[in-house]
Amino acid sequence: MTTVVPTTNIGKYETHVKASLANVSDAAIVTRIWKRDYTVWKPEPREITNRLGWLDIANTMSRKISMLKSFASDVHNAGFHYVVLLGMGGSSLGAAVLGSTFTNSESYPELIVLDSTLPESIQATVDFINPELTLFLVSSKSGTTTEPLILYTFFRNLLEKELGKEKAGRHFVAITDDRTPLVKLAEQDGFRHIFLNPPDIGGRYSVLSYFGLVPAALIGINIAALLDRAEAMRRGCAADVPDYQNAGAWLGVCMGTLALSGRDKLTLVTSPSIAAFELWVEQIIAESTGKESKGIIPVSNEPIMEPDCYGDDCLFIYLRVVDDENHAADVAVSRLISSGQPAIVLQLKDIYDIGGEFFRWEFATAVAGAILGIQPFDQPDVQKSKDVTARLLEEFSKSGHLPKLETTGSLADLLSHAAKSRYLAVMAYLRQTSEMDRALRKLRRKVSETYRIATTLGYGPRFLHSTGQLYKGGKNTGLFFQLTVDHEKDLSVPGKPYSFGTVADAQALGDFQALQAAGRTVVRVNLHESKASIIEGLL
Ligand code: PA5
Repeated sequence: MTTVVPTTNIGKYETHVKASLANVSDAAIVTRIWKRDYTVWKPEPREITNRLGWLDIANTMSRKISMLKSFASDVHNAGFHYVVLLGMGGSSLGAAVLGSTFTNSESYPELIVLDSTLPESIQATVDFINPELTLFLVSSKSGTTTEPLILYTFFRNLLEKELGKEKAGRHFVAITDDRTPLVKLAEQDGFRHIFLNPPDIGGRYSVLSYFGLVPAALIGINIAALLDRAEAMRRGCAADVPDYQNAGAWLGVCMGTLALSGRDKLTLVTSPSIAAFELWVEQIIAESTGKESKGIIPVSNEPIMEPDCYGDDCLFIYLRVVDDENHAADVAVSRLISSGQPAIVLQLKDIYDIGGEFFRWEFATAVAGAILGIQPFDQPDVQKSKDVTARLLEEFSKSGHLPKLETTGSLADLLSHAAKSRYLAVMAYLRQTSEMDRALRKLRRKVSETYRIATTLGYGPRFLHSTGQLYKGGKNTGLFFQLTVDHEKDLSVPGKPYSFGTVADAQALGDFQALQAAGRTVVRVNLHESKASIIEGLL
């Protein structure tokens, strides 16, 4: 069947974008970004000048390809069948996207990303792997993030029981910055290897550094091809490319300008082979721009619906891999454009082009940040949830229980606040399964069809290191729906007075309190059981 391939059409916003591009050119934003001029974003250099290493990382890493390949072949020869990455947010999402997009090459280990404290998710990983045939990557820039550190103690304990202390160490690799507590731990505990990442790259900008490339090499992805595409895109975003032709600057100008014109929901549509990429884009946009009561709200993996289900607050971006199964998305995007919705279509020649897309979106986010007047490299509100959680766990250690918080309303109560430009954020502290994905997609569709508002979905605690920043720091237009469960079978955290279930509960409760403290409209429902069928009854 032949379909007309949609092309970019931003309609009446063309004039706004032209004006914005002229401003960006007058202020020499692109040249100044390449000169690492922090005044593009803020008058102070804090957490900016030491966060711009991503501009050159593809180039730097191309000199590490043979070392990474030889490391991967050592691991391969040592007989590992699985690689389990323990990390959160920027230290895990890039790897997760690469793992889902490429899958492992024949006879290379399979990658599992464990970015959850839910005992159900940890148990599912334990049941899936054979620990003796598993290499664990402990990935954390700061080396202080609770989730990967307690997951490390759990798996370390498991391996030591089977293999003894010395042999167990050979099953662990750290990826972190120099001189972090994780370096110390890895040295003390005899890790197989420590990858020291360049310190001037923040979490969500790190996919083309060791954080993304070590797991990619381990599962046999052609990292040279990925870096080549990134390098080509880097040239396409260079200071000597006119701004209207500059791939990253143009996208950033569109995103920033349309957001300021009320189109602040950035709805992603992707070809099936790169569907996972949406998760990474969601993070870079949300965690980078969602602050100072501003920001762009990325809408990822939302079912594509009829044009009348959308309000006038969306910008659609379609990442289209040529030769993929694009018929449904082509038709849907064409219809959206015909109905007057602005849409940008980015063509990828194959899946390796996501190497280039990583760079394009990083650059675009930096430019959009300048237009919105925020600095895109920090994440102050992520810390707020972490602090509340730490306080709750401390209380638990003293008293043996967490404050009780049951259901605080219903989804219908929450949606009674639905109005133009608002959105529903589903925050599901549930184990992600394909059944649960389907049930939650259905729920999102129903909400959009009934209320004509955009919806987002994040599994907790993963989203705390991504959209969690935007939810608390961005515009107060979200309606926040928290779903929790009782843990049927809990797992203890070695050396701590609490279990993983308690940590997950403290994270949900801590985030609930942080959202309330930020004046957000939030409802919690405890499902008791993690059953997809219960989701259907929620609305
Ligand atoms: O983008 C970010 O900075 C965050 O998402 C971090 O990557 C996340 O919080 C994990 O931090 P770390 O790598 O220090 O463990």
